[in-house]
Order: sequence, then C-alpha cells, then structure tokens
Amino acid sequence: MAERIRVMLTEEEVDIRIKEIGEQISRDYAGRQVHLVCVLKGGSFFLCELAKRITVPVSLDFMSVSSYGSNTKSSGVVKIVKDLDEPLKDKDVIVVEDIVDSGRTLSYLLELLSQRGPGSMKLCTLLDKPERRVVDVKVDYTGFEIPDEFVVGYGLDYDQRYRNLPYIGVVEFD
Ligand code: IMP
Ligand code: MG
Repeated sequence: MAERIRVMLTEEEVDIRIKEIGEQISRDYAGRQVHLVCVLKGGSFFLCELAKRITVPVSLDFMSVSSYGSNTKSSGVVKIVKDLDEPLKDKDVIVVEDIVDSGRTLSYLLELLSQRGPGSMKLCTLLDKPERRVVDVKVDYTGFEIPDEFVVGYGLDYDQRYRNLPYIGVVEFD
C-alpha cells in the first residue's frame, strides 16, 4: 500500500506558534526557573524548539512511557520505560507532550508526577485532539487544536517513521 503525507500544518506555522508559546511561558514564569519534562519520544522535537524560545532559566529532564495496546490507540495502561533522572520536589514543572488524544496517558502521568511534590505543574502540548477526549485533562499551553485525524511529523510517528518531518501531516493510503 502506497503512503502519501498531506500537510496539515506547515513548518513555518509550527515554528511561529512555538515561538509564541515560548514567549508566553517566558512571561508567565518571569523571575523563576522552569523545569521542562519531556515525554519521549514524541515530545522531543517540540521540547527542543520550545526550550530555545524560552528566555527564563530552563532545566530539562526526560521520561519514556509506553501504553499497552495497538499502535494507533492508547489503552490507558501506562508503563514507565525510563524514569526522570532528577526529583521534581519544589520545581516549577512543565510537562511537554506531542499530542493529547484520549487523555489517558497524560492523566495517568500527571497524577504520578504530582505525587513527587513539584512546586507547580503545568501541561504544554503541541497538538490537541479535543474530539477524542475520554479522560479529562487540563491543558495549560496548546500549540494547535486539530481534527480527529492521525498525524505524523514533529516527533509523531506512524510505526516509528516520520518523526523527523519538520511539519505536521496526515498519512494517506492509496
Ligand atoms: P492518549 O490517547 O492521549 O493517551 O495519547 C497517547 C499517545 O498516543 C500520544 O502521546 C501519542 O504518542 C499517540 N498518538 C495519539 N494520537 C496520535 C496521532 O495522531 N499520531 C501519532 N501518535 C498519536
Ligand atoms: Mg506522546
């Protein structure tokens, strides 16, 4: 089956929006340090671009979770594959994600991380598919709300491919 990628958000649109979010975070956290927690692998491209646009002091940490189940649907059962290196105690944490879909992964993760006593915790996602929400999740910074389509690029994969696309696209099959 041949695959084509239809562009949903261009590289320029994504870059402009990330710059805006970086500016907003810099204003919101003026005089403080932010601790960005990246959810691998999808959040990594967004995290790097976002971190470059934040002007207050930034520290970074990474974690990797896997949701059991098929590739295109999350089951809600989440396993920590790689935990953070550093404690979150008293830090001003922003969790950086690629996409909030059903909300299952994030609601589990935010609950887990909040038990580690951060000074504050917010959620920043590049993409949000509100139509797909099953579990309520409060998103503090959203790049784009998108329709219910399976997207790739900017960290998002289809069967581990397309993460490196510098734009957001939809996989189409002939
Ligand atoms: P959840 O359904 O909100 O728990 O989403 C969990 C994960 O599913 C996301 O972090 C992504 O890794 C993946 N995911 C959800 N929607 C898409 C998509 O459109 N493209 C690629 N991955 C997706
Ligand atoms: Mg993800």
